[in-house]
Order: sequence, then C-alpha cells, then structure tokens
Amino acid sequence: MQEFLQRRPRRNRKNEVIRNLTQETWLSKNDLIFPLFVCEGENQKISIPSMPGIFRYSLDLLLAEIETCVKLGIKAFAPFPQIPENKKDTTGSQSYNPEGLYPKVIRTIKQNFPDVMLFTDVALDPYSSDGHDGIVRNGEILNDETLEVLVKMALVQAQAGSDCIAPSDMMDGRVGYLRKVLDQNGFTNVSILAYTAKYASAFYGPFRDALESAPKFGDKKTYQMNPANVREALLEAELDVAEGADIIMVKPALAYLDVIRLLKDNFPVPIAAYNVSGEYAMLKASIEKGWLNEKVILESLLSIKRAGADIILTYFAKEVAEKIS
Ligand code: PBG
Repeated sequence: MQEFLQRRPRRNRKNEVIRNLTQETWLSKNDLIFPLFVCEGENQKISIPSMPGIFRYSLDLLLAEIETCVKLGIKAFAPFPQIPENKKDTTGSQSYNPEGLYPKVIRTIKQNFPDVMLFTDVALDPYSSDGHDGIVRNGEILNDETLEVLVKMALVQAQAGSDCIAPSDMMDGRVGYLRKVLDQNGFTNVSILAYTAKYASAFYGPFRDALESAPKFGDKKTYQMNPANVREALLEAELDVAEGADIIMVKPALAYLDVIRLLKDNFPVPIAAYNVSGEYAMLKASIEKGWLNEKVILESLLSIKRAGADIILTYFAKEVAEKIS
C-alpha cells in the first residue's frame, strides 16, 4: 500500500461517467463546416483519387449530398468551384460573372436549404489561367490590382446569398476593403471569415487535384506564410481583426496547433482551423492500409479543438457526424 499517494489522478478516469464529467474539450456537429467541390454539368459525381470518400459533384447531385449531410446534423458548408480550363483567364473574369457556376451554386443551395450557412471562397485560383490567387504580371502576383477583383467577386457572392465571405487569397488589405465594399452595398449582415494565418503548405496537394487549380508556375510563397513563422501570425491576425474579420482562421490545422493556440489566447474573435486536404489524405491512406485505426480521425479533430479552435473545416465532417452529437 502506497500510503503516501494523496493525489491519484486515475480516480477521475475510473469509469466513463467520471471521464465524461471531467472531459475538458468536446467535438460537436455544431463545430463543423464541410468543404464541398462542385463542377459544371449534370449527374456528375467524380472521385478524387487523393481524397477517398470525397467527390466533385455537379449542382444537382451536390444538392442531394447536402440534404444527406443536413439530415446528419451538419449545418455549415464551404463550397469550392471547379472551373473548366477554357473559362479561365488572366483576370479570373468568371469569378465575378453573376451567371457563372459559383453564384448559381450559392443561389440554388440557399433556395433549397435556407437554414444552412454558406461560407463562400474568395480568391482567384479556381478562375485564373495562371493558377495563382492573384493577378500575375511578369511573374509577380499583384496585390492591389487583385483586391479590385476580390471585391467584385465577393459582391456577386453576397448578391447570390452567401452568409459569409471567406477570402483565402492572402493579399494584404483585403479584409478591410471587402468589409467596406460589402457595407457600402448594403451587405452589413454578411460576415467575413478571414484565412488569417494561411501557410505556403505542401498539405494542399489533394485540393489542387480536386479543382485542377495548381499554380502553372512557381509557388505561393510571396503571399502565403512561411511555415517556419509564428509571430507573423500575430501581425496577420491584428490586421484582419482591425479590418473587420468576424472569424479568423489558421490553415493547415494539425501541423499548426501552436498557431491556433496563439491566436486563441490573443484575439477576442472565434478561431477557425482548416483541417486541409493533405491532412485528410494522410489519415485516410493509413486507415485504408490498415496501419492506423480510424479512431485517429476523432482524436485529430479533438486535438484541433483542444488547441483552441472553435470551428473546424474538415472533409471528415460527414463521416464523423454519425459518431458525435
Ligand atoms: C486557394 C485555396 C487552397 C485551399 C483552399 N483555398 C489551396 C491553395 O492555397 O493552393 C486548400 C484547402 C485544402 O487543401 O483542403 N485559395
């Protein structure tokens, strides 16, 4: 008998009831946003080899997929469009065509599911023949010229019924400019979720496969953040919050849990984390091989919450919805 043992932390682990009573962090369906890929046409459900279980849907089948997810309790979605190569150009003009694919997708989803919350993507890469998030001239990604396109794109999305504009481009000053133009046009209730600390990461590969949106030259290091940096995230967050962001996001999530915690501790706005395509692919591949048990999925998502995320964008949303409340 170890009479000197006054503290026995195991008492709080002795059965499931006490374990649940003392659990510090919970993952709930209310925390999740499900990213979706949408393409032109009808009756299309195209698999993405690097993302097993995730598909690129035409709008008709996307609506059916959303209906299934809503029944499972998912209430928020982040659609991303795949634009055919022949409709891409150097200025990304399809991005602000009110009759283009994406505004049509937003309008139709909101007509069919008025209660779901739509987070819509603002960046040039799906529409750009250069595959960059901004306008390119002589190999340079132009900041201020890009902002003019981003605001046009955001206005078209707001008019189509977007609940929240989510700029993923990493141009300087875009949050303030978007806020101003949305307000001037009467969209004071449309929120902004800023991709605040978005890193130049190798974990985005499968997403670029899904949208066929990889950069045609170079990389994204002149606008996305250096994976080695964390203090720079404080500067990005300070600017985005001052410029009017309602929610700030860290992306990717699992390799950047320290950044999530840092922003949580320093800013009084909700923190989102994007559990990106490469993180999904990594776990899926090892589960498929039988090398890891599928419990790694919930453990990973819980760790993102524990780090401080209030909201998680994750391709696992649909499959975990059945396992959590
Ligand atoms: C581009 C964008 C990317 C992702 C979301 N928006 C990729 C990139 O920056 O090249 C990646 C998401 C993922 O990997 O799941 N604006």
